[in-house]
Amino acid sequence: MAAFLGLLAFAALLPTARQSITALSTTAIETFKPYTHYASTAYCQPSMTLKWTCGANCQANPSFVPIASGGDGDDIQFWYVGWDPSLETAIVAHQGTDTSELLADLTDVDIITENLDSTLFPGISSSIEVHSGFADEQAKTASSILAAVEIAISEHGAEKVTIVGHSLGAAIALLDAVYLPLHVNSASFQTVVYGLPRVGNQAFADYVDAHVTSFTRINNKEDPIPIVPGRFLGFHHPSGEVHITDANVWEACPGQDNTSDLCIVGDVPNIFDGDESDHDGPYDGVEMGC
Ligand SMILES: *[C@@H]1O[C@H](CO)[C@@H](O)[C@H](O)[C@H]1NC(C)=O
Repeated sequence: MAAFLGLLAFAALLPTARQSITALSTTAIETFKPYTHYASTAYCQPSMTLKWTCGANCQANPSFVPIASGGDGDDIQFWYVGWDPSLETAIVAHQGTDTSELLADLTDVDIITENLDSTLFPGISSSIEVHSGFADEQAKTASSILAAVEIAISEHGAEKVTIVGHSLGAAIALLDAVYLPLHVNSASFQTVVYGLPRVGNQAFADYVDAHVTSFTRINNKEDPIPIVPGRFLGFHHPSGEVHITDANVWEACPGQDNTSDLCIVGDVPNIFDGDESDHDGPYDGVEMGC
C-alpha cells in the first residue's frame, strides 16, 4: 500500500503542458529520498554494493537485494542493479564523476555528437544525436545492465524498474531509460536523475518527452552542470525538471529548459554564475558520494 501511494505521488509530479511552476509538498520531496540514496550509493565499490555493506547510504534502503555490480570507477563508471521489495521496483544505478573534469569536458568547444547505435537502440531515428562520450559510456555497460534487469524480472517478478544516477551517471541513466524499454516489454520504467548535463539534441529531448515514462531530473541551486553543453551548441534538455532553490523549495518546472528564474536555466544564465559545490548536493540532506 505504501509503495502504491508513493507511485501516485510520483505520477502527480509529471508536468503537463499548461501546468505552472509549482513547489513540491514535503511528502512529494520525501518520495525521492530512497532514490537519492540509491544514486549516492552508485559511488561505492562493486565489492560493497554486491554485499550492500556501504554504511549509511546502504542502510537507508535496508531491504535491498543486490543482483549485479560492475565498473572500475575509471574507464567504466561503477554501476549496480538489484531489487527493492518494499518499493517493489528493480533499481539500476550509475556512478557519476568529478565535477570540475565533467565541466571542462562539457564546455570544450570541440564537443562531438553521434547517432545512437542501431544495435543497442533498434529503430531509433537518425535525427537523434547525443554527446559521443555519454553514448560510449552507456554502451560499455548496456548488455550487463540488461541481463541484470532480466534477472530482477525472472527471479523477483519485477514489474517496475527505476533508473537513477548523478552527474555523468545521470547521463548514462537517461540513455538507459531510452535503451531498456526497447528490449524489455514486461516492466514499466521510471527514472530519477540528479545534476543531469544536457545529453542530446532537440530530437533527442523530444524523443525522451514522448517515450520515457515518469522522468524527473533534479537540479540543485546554482549547479553549473545542468546548463552544459550549451543550448547554442544544439543541446536541449527533456522536460521533467525539479529545481531546488536557494530557499530549499523544490520547484517543478514545466517544459524543456524552462527559462524562469525559479528553474536552473534562468537561475544560472552562464557557468560563471554557477557554483560547482552545489553539484554534489545536498539533495534533501543527501550528499552524493559513497
Ligand atoms: C516555464 O513555465 C511556465 C509556467 O509557469 C510556462 O508558462 C512556460 O511556458 C515555461 N517555459 C518554457 C520555456 O517551457
